[in-house]
Amino acid sequence: MVIEHQDTKTIVEKQRTALHEAQRWKENAKPWDQWADNVARMADRLNQPFLKALDIQPGQHVLDLASGPGEPALSMRKVIGDAPALLVATDWIPEMLMALRKRDLESGKGDIEVVATDMESLPFKEKSFDRISCRFGIMFLSNPLKALKDCYNILKLKGQIGFLVFGPLKENSLHNVLHEAVQDVFGFSEKENSYSPFRYASSQEDEHGAESLESMMEKIGYKSLKSETLRIEKYISGESSFWQQQLEMSYSYYLKTKSEDSLFRLDDNIRGRFENTRSEKGIPITMKARIITGIKT
Ligand SMILES: C[S@@+](CC[C@H](N)C(=O)[O-])C[C@H]1O[C@@H](n2cnc3c(N)ncnc32)[C@H](O)[C@@H]1O
Repeated sequence: MVIEHQDTKTIVEKQRTALHEAQRWKENAKPWDQWADNVARMADRLNQPFLKALDIQPGQHVLDLASGPGEPALSMRKVIGDAPALLVATDWIPEMLMALRKRDLESGKGDIEVVATDMESLPFKEKSFDRISCRFGIMFLSNPLKALKDCYNILKLKGQIGFLVFGPLKENSLHNVLHEAVQDVFGFSEKENSYSPFRYASSQEDEHGAESLESMMEKIGYKSLKSETLRIEKYISGESSFWQQQLEMSYSYYLKTKSEDSLFRLDDNIRGRFENTRSEKGIPITMKARIITGIKT
């Protein structure tokens, strides 16, 4: 009886986290749509090595998970070509998929199939896809093992899966400065534990004891695991509020209730933090990410 009670509590807790996450992404969908083209341009330096590591080829059947407003699905669309190639983009927030659809119609043929689905309960038949991709999505799941298992089933034999995840928070300067400033001004911090965007920053278990992505993939049966670290550094003049898009994409669900005055204080705080890092080359912006791939044999 006691065990049943504990299980129910765990399920309720997980459900609560999932609902909170869904609400957060629903409210963030508008800025993700608004800034999608800018972000796509900036993130292309991560995207291209990701597509290469996944060995995306013409004619493949590809599933992109947690596609948000469209990447890497839109970039893969250009590589795989026309039918019988197939590209299915998914997300659990319909507003994200509507943004993706709009961009697909504007820039392509509008033939990316979209399916609104939770990554933890994928509706596809087994052995349906040659490739499965997920860029900056797996870290937000309450049950990543379930998602990895579903993906294993729906991959064809010799099919390949690939994830792009953030490296450590401190090495992603834009996220780090925003994190510190929001904490400083509002005393608010996104959970830095297992549901953090930086959860799979390392190939080792994290400091909260959360299992690494590599270890979970091995457990499910993926073989030939490979990982690659990507690091980008650039210097910017920093004249405008260049952080605005990331701030809205990460925190609009939280900041929507804040007063104009406190948002001005936040803006000043962020500007001050970036100015403190300025050198003669400008303000350094660093990004670190990891690509992890595996094969179903
Ligand atoms: C950081 S965004 C990444 C979007 C896009 N792949 C990119 O790289 O720009 C994370 C996306 O994961 C989606 N997401 C989070 N949890 C999910 C879940 N359980 N099932 C499906 N999508 C989920 C969110 O709605 C959001 O669109």
